Parts: sequence; C-alpha cells; structure tokens
Amino acid sequence: MNQTARKTIDAFHQRFGEKPVWIVRAPGRVNLIGEHTDYNDGYVLPMAIDQATWIALRPRTSRQVQLYSLDHVAACSFSLESIERDRMHWSEYPKGVAHTLLAHGYPLSGWEGVTACDIPMGAGLSSSASFELAVARAFSAVSGFAWDKQLMARLCQQAENQWVGVKCGIMDQMISAIGEEGKAILIDCRDYAHRAVPLPTGVMVVIMDTMTRRGLVESVYNERRQQCQEAAKIFGVKALRDADLDTYKQQATLLNPITRRRAKHVVTENHRTLNTAAAMERGDATTCGRLMNESHKSLRDDFEVTNDALNAIVAAAQSHPGCLGARMTGAGFGGCAVALVETSKVESFSQDIVEAYQRSSQLTPNLYPANASKGASIESTISLPP
Ligand code: GLA
Repeated sequence: MNQTARKTIDAFHQRFGEKPVWIVRAPGRVNLIGEHTDYNDGYVLPMAIDQATWIALRPRTSRQVQLYSLDHVAACSFSLESIERDRMHWSEYPKGVAHTLLAHGYPLSGWEGVTACDIPMGAGLSSSASFELAVARAFSAVSGFAWDKQLMARLCQQAENQWVGVKCGIMDQMISAIGEEGKAILIDCRDYAHRAVPLPTGVMVVIMDTMTRRGLVESVYNERRQQCQEAAKIFGVKALRDADLDTYKQQATLLNPITRRRAKHVVTENHRTLNTAAAMERGDATTCGRLMNESHKSLRDDFEVTNDALNAIVAAAQSHPGCLGARMTGAGFGGCAVALVETSKVESFSQDIVEAYQRSSQLTPNLYPANASKGASIESTISLPP
C-alpha cells in the first residue's frame, strides 16, 4: 500500500480507535503542455500523478465535518447547517467544497477523517485541486450521491473560485477527477471534451522541482487573465481560443506590445498542445520534446511567467543528451518544470541536472519520474485487518 495512505489510515486508527470505513485518493497533476490556455477556453495536456491527497474517514450521525490534517498538524471542524469563513487557510478548501455542493442541492451528511498529502505544496502540481476533489469524493461516499467526475471537477473549481477566492481555470480539478493510468489527457477547456493520449514508449516524464516558491502568483495570474480577455475583446472573439494564427497575424498591431505578447503565447500554445497530442499518438517523442521547448520559450519571453530558477533548470535539462524537451509546468513564477527523457538515460539525467542546478543556484532540486495515474477514487477498507 502507498506510504501516505498507510500513514493516514494508521493516524485515523490512533485518533478514533478503529479503522476507517473508506480511504479516498485524489491525485495531483503535471501539465505536459497547454499552459495558461485553460482560462482562454483552450487546450491542455496534463496527466494525473502518483502523488495525491488521501483522506481516511467514517460517517458521523450528526451533520458535522471534522478533519485532522497530518501535514498541518491541526484539525478543522464545521457544521453543514451553517458554514462560515475563518482565517485558517487550509480548512477553507473542505468548507468551500461543502458549501458549493450544498448550494447545488446535494444532501450532505457529516463525516470525520484524517488527511495527508504527498504533493509538494505551492510547487505547481495542484495540491489544492487534489484536496478539493478528495473532499468531494468523501462527501459523495458518505452522502450516497453519484460520482459524476466532470461535474465534481467543475463544482470544485467553483469552490476554489468563489469560496477560496482563487480565479483558477478548470485544468487542475478536471485532471484530478478524470486522470487515467499510463495516459495524458487532452482536454478542451471550453466544452470539457477530452481524450486519453498514451505516452510515447521509450521516454519518461520527469518532474524537476526547483524548490523555489513565489508569493505574488495570484495577482500576476489575475493580471494575465485580464490581458488575455482584453486581447480577445479587441480581436472580437469570445475567448483567445477562437483566434487562430491568421487572426493573430492580421490583428496583432491592434494590441499594445504587452497584450500582443500575451495573446501570441496563448494562440501559439493552443497549436502546440494539439500538435503535441497528435505527435504522442503517433509515438513521435522528438516532436513532443521540441514543442515543449517552444512552449517554455513562449512562457518565458511572451507570457513572462517563469523565474530564474525555472529558466536555469529548463536550460540545463534541454542541453542534456538524454532529454527530448523541457518546460516549466503549472502557473509558473517558481515551482516545478517537466522534462521528457529517454528511459535509459533517466538516472544520468537526474544526477547531471541536480549537479548543474546546484552549481548555478545553490539550491538542491528534487527530480523524480512521474507515472500517469488514475483520477480521484475511493476504496472501502473492509479488507484491511481490524
Ligand atoms: C494554475 C491554474 C490552472 C492553469 C495553470 C496555468 O495551475 O490553477 O487553472 O491556469 O495555472 O496553465
């Protein structure tokens, strides 16, 4: 059994004197390409990863939710009769999910549980979305309503947008809900249509955590969103997804230089994402790698959401003979990058990049291969020993 799951179940046992009834898992994600496209109604190509949020739980007779977090070494408790905001940040996620589900008419029952997460927080691997999906999955089991993956992803996004107050797009919640083993998922963020895309053989996806975390992400993220909306308005389209390369070329001069660069990133990134999915489907890892390199350049120079650490680790990766391509992943401004590496060279790649990055930044990065995993799930713990 996964170590974090084991730890969560053991802690539940210690706290409540018996084993939990269920164990829920909702994964984080790494986005292979399609960055800052989701809130432009565009395309993304993420995969769910092994790292996840776990909740061990049992139902309660009262309409109270009580959750102990092993990561925060703290408990939160709220009544489903009236949910109120407070200052304890992590507890706003379960409260926001409960509030949103109730607002959509779901008859929620109370539960108590223990949670733990092995996704590094604030690293661009969607620990928040995975927490939201895990909570939603717990509510669906305890309250007995059907688990509709897509709908749950959208309600969790709504919880994050409206209750937590972060204006994220749909990518993180959607992939945490619909992830598939061994596959990345191409998602159309306008209508949520998606298709599973197998990873090419002979290569592995490697996550490279720069160990930098940046504060001001939200304000810069919101500013980028606004700039994209402004560009769409000037182009006369609903969202930048509707602007193709020709529209961009014909109308780019209508935009001021900054908005023009932002629009250029989104328009070209949508193309790259579709082309990467097609290349993956024909097993063409070389093209995937090239497109990832182009994506990083575009995020660095046109969308301007990288930082020195991301640029350094990506440059080191790109110059390694075992690497087909590399780019930042997630919102940017720090956190993780992702590389496509020949399977036989993953070990030497990891060693070389750790050394190169240490030399240039005085920080020790964390590199590990990522497996594409399935989306949020729940298991009964009936088969576990008492
Ligand atoms: C964050 C957001 C996503 C997406 C990415 C950038 O992870 O939560 O919705 O916008 O940034 O691609």
